[in-house]
Amino acid sequence: MRVLPWLVLLLVGAASCRHAATPHEPADMRAALPMDIHSYAEPDHVRVTHVGLDLSVDFSQKTLSGSARLRCSRERGDRVLVVDTQDLVVQEVVGADGKARKFTVGAADPKLGAPLRIELSGGEQEVLVRYHTTENAGALQWLTPEQTSGRRFPFLFTQGQSIFTRSWIPLQDSPGVRITFDASVRVAPTAATPDPTALTVVMAAEQLGRGADGAFRFRFDKPIPPYLLALACGELKFAPISARCGVWAEPSVVEGAARELEDTEAMIAAAEKLYGPYRWGRYDLLVLPPAFPLGGMENPCLTFATPTILAGDKSLVALIAHELAHSWSGNLVTNATWRDFWLNEGFTVYLEARIMEEVFGVARAEMEKQLALAELERELSELPPADQVLYIDLAGRHPDDGFSTVPYEKGALFLRRIEQITGRTEFDRFLRSWFSGHAFRSVHTEEFVSFLRRELLDQKPGRAEAIDLDLWLHKPGLPSDAPRAASDALQRVDRELAAWQAGKPAAQLATAGWTTQQWVHLIESLPATIDPTRMAELDQAFRFTQSGNCEIACPWLRRAVERGYSAADARLEEFLISVGRRKFLKPLYTELAKSESGRARARAIYQKARSRYHPMCVTTIDKIVL
Ligand code: BES
Ligand code: ZN
Repeated sequence: MRVLPWLVLLLVGAASCRHAATPHEPADMRAALPMDIHSYAEPDHVRVTHVGLDLSVDFSQKTLSGSARLRCSRERGDRVLVVDTQDLVVQEVVGADGKARKFTVGAADPKLGAPLRIELSGGEQEVLVRYHTTENAGALQWLTPEQTSGRRFPFLFTQGQSIFTRSWIPLQDSPGVRITFDASVRVAPTAATPDPTALTVVMAAEQLGRGADGAFRFRFDKPIPPYLLALACGELKFAPISARCGVWAEPSVVEGAARELEDTEAMIAAAEKLYGPYRWGRYDLLVLPPAFPLGGMENPCLTFATPTILAGDKSLVALIAHELAHSWSGNLVTNATWRDFWLNEGFTVYLEARIMEEVFGVARAEMEKQLALAELERELSELPPADQVLYIDLAGRHPDDGFSTVPYEKGALFLRRIEQITGRTEFDRFLRSWFSGHAFRSVHTEEFVSFLRRELLDQKPGRAEAIDLDLWLHKPGLPSDAPRAASDALQRVDRELAAWQAGKPAAQLATAGWTTQQWVHLIESLPATIDPTRMAELDQAFRFTQSGNCEIACPWLRRAVERGYSAADARLEEFLISVGRRKFLKPLYTELAKSESGRARARAIYQKARSRYHPMCVTTIDKIVL
C-alpha cells in the first residue's frame, strides 16, 4: 500500500508539531505511517528520551546488573510508560522520590520479548529500573580467554541490531525512538576477573575515562536509535590513526590493525567531501576477537569489526568504508521500522562504493560492485519471492528473518539507477539534502519516495517515467534496468580461467599481482562439476586451502565440500571452530548439510563449536544442521 506524497508531507509536518494540534487529530494521521510492529513501546503516549546506565559486568555469572534511569516526555494524562525487555529480570522500579513504582512484565513472546509497564506518578519524568540480564541475553556474547588472542582474560561485547538491545537494557527498542544516554560501567571482581583493572570497557559514545572507583564513564548527547547502543569489555589497547580516528583491539592485534586500517582517515575525508561533515566527533574502530558474528557494526563513534578483514594487504577495507558510510545513512538518517531496513543498508552500500571509488579508484569499486551483483543474483535465485522485495513485509517475523543481500545490493542498485537518470552531480546534491534535511531523524520508505518525487523525479519531464518505483520497491526479482558493473580486472580472471580449462597448467596462469577480489572471482567461477583432482592442481599452485584470507578460504572450502575435495577437511573443521562470522559459517554448514555424510560431519563440528558462537549464529546454524 502506498501513501500519497502530499499525505506524507502532511503527516511529517503533523508529527513534528503535534503539540499544537487537537488531541485526536495527530494520532489519526500518524497512524497512516506504518507502526513499528517489533516494539511494545507506545512512544506517542510516553516516550523515553534519555537513558542513564549504571552497570556492573560479572564475568563469572555472565550477567550485567545495575540500573537504567529512564527520562521521558509524556503527553498530558498518559501515566503508563511501556518499554521493551527480553530475558531481563526486573527487580524494582523506583521514582525520583526513592519510592517504589508499580510495574508489570507482560507475557514474553519468543521474538519480541516482554513489555514492561510502569505506572508513573503525578507529573514525574524519570524512573529508575533495577535489573539484571540473564544467560539468554541475545545481545551479549561472553568469550572465554581461549577465544581471545591474549588467552588470559575473558571478553564481552554487545550487538543490538536489530532488536536485541532490549535484552541488556529495558528501553523503547524501536529505531523510531531516539535517545541520548550516559553510562557508568565497572567490572566486578569475581573468580573470572580477580583483577578488574586489567580490563577496559569501551562504549560507542564519548569516553570520559575511568573514575577513582574503577568505573568507566561515558556520555552521548546526540540522539541515536537504541540498536546503536554498544559496549565491549576485554584486554584492550588503543592505537591512533589520525587526530580523530584510531583502533581499539587486543594488545597483540592493535598495531597490525592500525596499519591495515590506516586509510580510514582518507575515507572519512572522502565521505565528508561527498556527503557533508562527519557529525559524530571521533571515528574509532574496535577490532574484536574472531568469534564476532558480523563483518562490521556501525556503532556510533566506534565501529565494531571482525578481525577477518585484516588480510595483511588492505584488500578488505571496503567493510570500513561501509560502516563509516552508516554515519550518514543509518545513524544520522535511520530506518523508522525494520521494513525500511533497505534505507539503511541500500544507501550505505551505495555510499560505500562511492567512498571506495574516491580513495582507491574506479577499477576497485567496479570490481567490488560486479562481485556483489553476482552474489545478489545467486541469492535471488534461492529466496522466496516475498523476501526479494525491498519494502519487505515482516508481519509475524523477526526483523532478522528478512535479512539477505536484497536490502543491500538491490537497494544500492535502485539508487544507482536513479543516479543514471539524473546524472551524478544532481544525485549527489539530492543525497546531501536528504541527509541534512533528515539528520537525527528516523524515516519511512514512504517519506523517501515522496522526497525523491518532489526533489528529483518531478523536477524534469520524462524522469518519473524513466523508473518504475513500484517495481523497484514492491516487486520481487531484479528490474531489467538495474545498472551492470563491468570490471576489466575480473575479465582478465575469466580469460585465465578459460585458458586453464583449455589445458594451460594452473602454475602458468598470469596471476601476478592479483587482488583478493580476483581470487574470489576465480573460485566462484569454477565449473560446477569440477573434479577434485583439478581442485588439487589449483590448490598446489595457489594454496587456497591454507589461505589466511577468509574471503578466499570460505568459497574455496565450500567448493571443497560440494565436490568432495577431502584434502581440505581438516582446514574446514579448524576454520569453523575458530571463525564465528555468520557470513562464513552459514554457506559452509549449508553445503555440508546437503548430504547425509556431510550433515554428520557438520553435527560433529558444530557440537564442538556451538558454545563459542554468538547467539545469532546459533539460531542460524541450529536451523541448518539440527
Ligand atoms: N548494520 C549491519 C550489520 C547488521 C545488519 C547487524 C542487520 C544486525 C542486523 C552492518 O553495517 C553490515 O551490513 N555489516 C556487513 C558488512 C558490510 C560490508 C556489508 C556484515 O557484517 O557482513
Ligand atoms: Zn550496513
